Amino acid sequence: MRKKLIAANWKMYKTPDQTRDFFHDFLPLVHGPDRNAGRDEIVVCPTYLCLEAAVTAAKGSNVAIGAQNLYWEKEGAFTGEVNAAMLLAVGVTHVIIGHSERRQYFGETDDTVNLKLKSAIEAGLIPIVCVGEVLEEREAGLTDDVLRRQCLRAFHKVSAKKAVSLVVAYEPVWAIGTGKTATPQMAADAHAIIRAEAAESFGQEFADKLRILYGGSVKPENAHALMSEEEIDGALVGGASLDPKSFASIVKY
Ligand code: 13P
Repeated sequence: MRKKLIAANWKMYKTPDQTRDFFHDFLPLVHGPDRNAGRDEIVVCPTYLCLEAAVTAAKGSNVAIGAQNLYWEKEGAFTGEVNAAMLLAVGVTHVIIGHSERRQYFGETDDTVNLKLKSAIEAGLIPIVCVGEVLEEREAGLTDDVLRRQCLRAFHKVSAKKAVSLVVAYEPVWAIGTGKTATPQMAADAHAIIRAEAAESFGQEFADKLRILYGGSVKPENAHALMSEEEIDGALVGGASLDPKSFASIVKY
């Protein structure tokens, strides 16, 4: 059995004060007597600026804190960048890599995803590597090829031993922020492709344990159906994670 992971990607939302307010309201909701509260691994990924506020607010709770990006160099003249050691130093445990918005707007490529993945696992961060096709690719029947290519290149020269903590998020780009969700069956099919690719890169045993999250318009209303699919090991939630009640009800699906 793979333990489910429910992660919030806050994107470019919330100030430090708003981050503290969120945790004040959210933590009691996922730590109560409700038998579904805190059953799964919970991660919140705010902006760099709010990481410290989030780590402090979540200290001693069942919620871990992740970053939305990192840079692979150890240190140097890289204006605006933050590396794995810096994230660890403020108490971050997880990091999202290769989100489609970074690929789309900030020049992220399969090769930079690979460099970032290697630096995250080398440092001991838990990487959440995002893959997913755009609408034109799906309509052209290329979903399979795109997912295989993104995984193959992300995993290039990464050893199974080092990648034990790897998490992959399948986020079909056409479902992000659009209100269009992949059906549980569509997501499960895509996850099976990703798992097959992971088996080729890392071996079947690794692939059987690999957690693959679904992301793209996950809401309290559709979380249960998605999480009931055996192939879906959790969710990466954007918009619906900004409100403590809404994210808590996804966590408790
Ligand atoms: P939405 O949940 O807002 O569609 O965003 C999904 C996402 O991009 C999470 O990383």
